[in-house]
Amino acid sequence: MGKSCINVGILGWGTVGTGVSKILVNQHALIAKNSGTELRLKKIVKRTLPATREGVELPVDCLTTNPVEVIDDPDIDIVVELIGGVTEAHSLIRRALQNGKHVVTANKALLAEHGGELFQLASEHQVSLNFEASAAGGIPIIKTLQESFAGNQIHSLYGIVNGTCNYILTEMHECSVDFSDVLKVAQDLGYAEADPTLDVEGIDAAQKLILLIALAYRSSISLSQLYVEGITNITQKEIQYARELGYVIKLLAIAKLTDGNRVEARVHPTLVPERSLLANVGGAFNAVCVIGDAVGPTLFYGQGAGEMPTASAVVADIIDAAKSAQQGVSTPISQAWLAGAQAEVDICSIDDIETRYYIRFVVADRPGVLAKIGTILGNWHISIASVIQKDPHGMETVSLVMLTHTAREKNMKAALTEIYTLEEVKEEAQLIRIEEGVDF
Ligand code: HSE
Repeated sequence: MGKSCINVGILGWGTVGTGVSKILVNQHALIAKNSGTELRLKKIVKRTLPATREGVELPVDCLTTNPVEVIDDPDIDIVVELIGGVTEAHSLIRRALQNGKHVVTANKALLAEHGGELFQLASEHQVSLNFEASAAGGIPIIKTLQESFAGNQIHSLYGIVNGTCNYILTEMHECSVDFSDVLKVAQDLGYAEADPTLDVEGIDAAQKLILLIALAYRSSISLSQLYVEGITNITQKEIQYARELGYVIKLLAIAKLTDGNRVEARVHPTLVPERSLLANVGGAFNAVCVIGDAVGPTLFYGQGAGEMPTASAVVADIIDAAKSAQQGVSTPISQAWLAGAQAEVDICSIDDIETRYYIRFVVADRPGVLAKIGTILGNWHISIASVIQKDPHGMETVSLVMLTHTAREKNMKAALTEIYTLEEVKEEAQLIRIEEGVDF
């Protein structure tokens, strides 16, 4: 028989922490019914006091500024880390695990960097370390990969996992505005951070992809093994020409099993067919498409950030952790990552991927230029599928917009290097990979 009451301590009372406290307090009876567990919110650590929050009435003496009152309190069974960042969160979680506490975190940056070590520590202390909210917020993709698809070989996974980028790209498509203008609006509205680098350069999406790959392929990989390209170079021209060609540009996090034990792992702007479900995931929403050998294509859609959607995932983890605490066992969530110590797959270099491309060259409008470019591409085994010329009348340069058939990335790079030596080619081409695999 387990404990009749499980005590929870939260580190961090920002947006998500507030949402979690609201659910734990306001849905106390519902959670007890659904989980068979009495969950008591005992302490919340907030850097500065006093603090009150609309919509939640905390137990007396719940707030403290001292994290030790949570991580060293023998009565607290579950520690919920919501302070973000790497250094402090890392040491607090380590200490909580060493103290035998089950830990729930939404911290993808921390897990992407120190996941292997923390899951090892959780295993040694026979506690669980749950992280559903760390990728795609309210979408239960971690549990799905870990549990629901456990009998599948995952062929591929495509994620729109950064709401900021998806919001910006959606506005660029729908309102014909430039990247920098939308970014400014997004910052004014509070969708984008004051320093948007992690989001718009694709790092946030890459950290989430690391977590998804750990589960899908039982392999622990580092950020340096991923190809990561953000959305800052996407212009209104690319948006318009992609649309004319029947595509929408999305920032995709992609993992794809190629030949048995090699996985492509990349984050970059991608042309997806406009009729595909992913193309129609708009605004700040997230979606993850997983294709398994048994289940076939599946798609998960929802809010990837925000107070209550993220809190929904955190509370689900707390309930799982409470079951672990009652039964005295750790949940299987950590096992996939631990298995990553003996990585089961190799990560493919970006040079070795094969894909179709959108390319826009800016060239002098003279006879023979297209032929010269076509010859170089042909020499590198790159076949042109279609080409259109976009010519502002009276200008000296024009855009040549091409779609290619499937080609190898290293051939494309070599061809471009040669093409840039042509005197008629005026600037670096815009190169965007195309993904047809999402079209189901
Ligand atoms: N900054 C992220 C996004 C949310 O824009 O999706 C937190 O992961």
